[in-house]
Amino acid sequence: MTHPATTPFDLHADGDPPADPWVVARSWLPADDDPERPQVTLATTGADGCPDARTVLLTAFDETGFAFHTARTSRKVAELAADPRAALVVLWPGFTRQLVVRGGVVPDGPADAARAWAARSDHLRRLAWLGTDELAGLDRAGRVAGWAADVPTGADTDPAPGWVGYRVRPVELTFWAGGVDTASRRLQYSLVEGTWRTRWLAG
Ligand SMILES: Cc1cc2nc3c(=O)[nH]c(=O)nc-3n(C[C@H](O)[C@H](O)[C@H](O)COP(=O)(O)O)c2cc1C
Repeated sequence: MTHPATTPFDLHADGDPPADPWVVARSWLPADDDPERPQVTLATTGADGCPDARTVLLTAFDETGFAFHTARTSRKVAELAADPRAALVVLWPGFTRQLVVRGGVVPDGPADAARAWAARSDHLRRLAWLGTDELAGLDRAGRVAGWAADVPTGADTDPAPGWVGYRVRPVELTFWAGGVDTASRRLQYSLVEGTWRTRWLAG
């Protein structure tokens, strides 16, 4: 799903905020077909109970959630199997706006995965096929040779078998905007019995 470019919702403007957080999200984040993807900090709960985090690319988003893709064998996938909840931090663009999302995580559907695979660069498709711990453990010559392996990386090919997608379905979205002549400010949306509640918070 693509999002038409709109003026970013201004957190410092007077008046009531949109009742629907997706109106703000769509105005803040790039369209799914924009090749410049936001880098997102994805936090999960580690097997030892300690928080875990890493950067992923935001593949796409719509009212069903925020999608990312990763290796089936990765630690985040094991952690999400044990505790299917996550937080996402999107710092976009630059240091001016932040969106924090918290919610449950579900596997992404095959149609979404196929669309996401087609939108990935050849480099990222090759990475999905070849980016294994075994390759990472080889010496440099071995890693260069391994990277040259013949794998299907065209946009019209099926996704690599070890490549999986997940969708964070928000129960809370917190939008943050820095201030120039006033303090930074946050707008928080919480899902309460199927309805979004809003409140303003200090930055
Ligand atoms: C800018 C940037 C973008 C990244 N994008 C992804 C991504 O979209 N998917 C992914 O699995 N890993 C991505 N990575 C690598 C992850 O940060 C991480 O190292 C890897 O997924 C293993 O994480 P885990 O062991 O916690 O599961 C990215 C790293 C950087 C620095």
